[in-house]
Amino acid sequence: MAKMTKPIQELLNKVPIAILATATPDGIPNAVPIGAKRIIDNQAVLISDQFFNKTLANMKVNPRVSLMFWEGNEGYQIKGPVTIETTGRRFEETTRWIKEMSKKMGLSFRSKAAVILQVEEIYAIGPGSDAGKRLA
Ligand SMILES: Cc1cc2nc3c(=O)[nH]c(=O)nc-3n(C[C@H](O)[C@H](O)[C@H](O)COP(=O)(O)O)c2cc1C
Repeated sequence: MAKMTKPIQELLNKVPIAILATATPDGIPNAVPIGAKRIIDNQAVLISDQFFNKTLANMKVNPRVSLMFWEGNEGYQIKGPVTIETTGRRFEETTRWIKEMSKKMGLSFRSKAAVILQVEEIYAIGPGSDAGKRLA
């Protein structure tokens, strides 16, 4: 397991959107923007599934994902396996959070699952000599 440093956690909290990449078992990639994300601790990120379609199908058969986010020249890839929770405390909290979010946006959507990403690898993606370097 890798640990997200404070600056990495701060950036993930700050960016409104991150990109979640998944793949089919035979390697066909899929990438989507996600906004409903929360840091659980320095080794885990929660993403709420409202609309996942190919993403969900991919994660069910191939749980390894990459979450990418950046601002300016600072950016990271977080890689690891996900688990999909549709019951329990974390899912209940997520449904409340997304209900509030949907209300504030004047829309009507709900969380179908709390997707928990276990941070296994972290890479820098900013331009420069450290581009692609494994950080943890
Ligand atoms: C700005 C933006 C933010 C989004 N945030 C989320 C999100 O947090 N959770 C979610 O389930 N879908 C979110 N979506 C929808 C997904 O990006 C995507 O449309 C959905 O997963 C269907 O694509 P797929 O078939 O590749 O999974 C968002 C879309 C946009 C444009």
